[in-house]
Amino acid sequence: MTPSGKTERDIAETLRQLRLVMTGLQVAGIEDWAAAWSDPAVGLPEPEKAIEQEPDPAGGLTVIAGELEGCRRCRLHSERTRIVFGEGSAHAPLVFVGEGPGLEEDRQGRPFVGRAGRLLDQMIKALGFHREAVYICNVVKCRPPKNRTPESEEIARCGPFLIRQIEAIRPRVICALGACAAQTLVGTGSSISRLRGSVHYWRGIPLICTFHPAYLLRTPAQKAAAWEDLILVRDLLKTGCVQDGGIGREGIKPSPASDRHIGP
Ligand code: URA
Repeated sequence: MTPSGKTERDIAETLRQLRLVMTGLQVAGIEDWAAAWSDPAVGLPEPEKAIEQEPDPAGGLTVIAGELEGCRRCRLHSERTRIVFGEGSAHAPLVFVGEGPGLEEDRQGRPFVGRAGRLLDQMIKALGFHREAVYICNVVKCRPPKNRTPESEEIARCGPFLIRQIEAIRPRVICALGACAAQTLVGTGSSISRLRGSVHYWRGIPLICTFHPAYLLRTPAQKAAAWEDLILVRDLLKTGCVQDGGIGREGIKPSPASDRHIGP
């Protein structure tokens, strides 16, 4: 116990959160983090700034995947079977970002192909898309041992590839699945419960954070909340904005319960 009453574990946790915030700010593209800290407007979209469109998104993705071949930039390389780069349409209006490959993804070299992936497929279908029409990737491209949360060093090494993937596609909306993706893209250590339910921006692109499908499988009671997040995604895709700013405010009408079913 320290004089302030904090245990070493508390301090270690605070440091972990701080590292995550710093890495997230880096991945979010916020270099002047001191300004971002004191000015909540830093990181918000600049509507007058033209968004640069990658002339050949598919070609861009192929180049990035090529640079990742045989990657040994972090220690995750030592236990992986395959690098899971990501898949889907290079012209996708919507990009989903998960945490990192699991066992099945590591075997197949494809993102979200296990049980959580089947739930994600249903979420995608509920939005009116085929899986092939969206793009799915992860913060880290190699499976963390025993599916542990990726460490900030690993996120810092792999983050630049995620940035380039999203920049190549420049989707209309990004959906972060779970705390790791949400914290990395928003550049914060806040919990997923705090981050979900409103619109964030990643380099000018609207970003919705929601629960990870694996968490929803364990906690089905949260599926209704995830469905509300998907409604935000749907509204952003349709109109580029959400009614009255987000969930819980007037204007977002609850959907019929039958509409809200997004999983087994
Ligand atoms: N969980 C993730 O975060 N990503 C995957 O690709 C699979 C499971």
